[in-house]
Amino acid sequence: MSDLTISIAKGRLQDSAFDLFRRVGLTVSQEALESRRLLIDDESGLYSFIFVKPADVPVYVEYGVADAGICGRDVLMESSADVHEPLDLGFGRCRLVVAGRPESAARGYDPLATARVATKYPRVTSNYFQLRGVPVELIELSGSVELAPVLGLSDHIVDLVETGRTLAENGLVVIDTIAESTARLIVNRASYHLKRAAISHLINALRAGLNQG
Ligand code: PRP
Repeated sequence: MSDLTISIAKGRLQDSAFDLFRRVGLTVSQEALESRRLLIDDESGLYSFIFVKPADVPVYVEYGVADAGICGRDVLMESSADVHEPLDLGFGRCRLVVAGRPESAARGYDPLATARVATKYPRVTSNYFQLRGVPVELIELSGSVELAPVLGLSDHIVDLVETGRTLAENGLVVIDTIAESTARLIVNRASYHLKRAAISHLINALRAGLNQG
């Protein structure tokens, strides 16, 4: 059995995470990385990796199925999981924004009308509008959120912007930035104590790898 299990968000953070692991001597065979296996070991046999949807990374870590995980701050803001967040990994930089068509951006929020907002981030979205006293109707989508204001399904969206290409190519503009996001290392609270030596070793190695990078 490996010493530590690490859950990794499939998709945009995965390559940067494994670049960092490689820099600190934690290597996984190319064959394993290219396979469709969802659970793989590193070459030392000390680490196992599980590949899950970004929003599920904190779930696996909170329940201790994974001792640690890597996911975006955006995911942590949306999650209610109780986990340690010891390290900002710096990569995967993007913004969580409110966006919409230029006309609706120019109008601003009407505190007397209910704003229809499409998003994959219902918790962050309802907190944001509640703080501003704007009534909100949430439309939960699981992808291609930018389509919603284009087709009149919603007034606004709350979504991630990385390069800004998806917004621009769909004729949308940023109305407000809710938060900046980067990838974070998260750790299960019990593992943090019970596997202190292995977890500290991992955190120190990753920190050193970031300083080299
Ligand atoms: C994300 C996000 C935006 C896009 C932003 O979607 O939800 O749609 O990337 O990137 P950009 O600013 O560089 O264009 P993702 O690719 O994860 O797919 P999804 O639409 O299925 O969520």
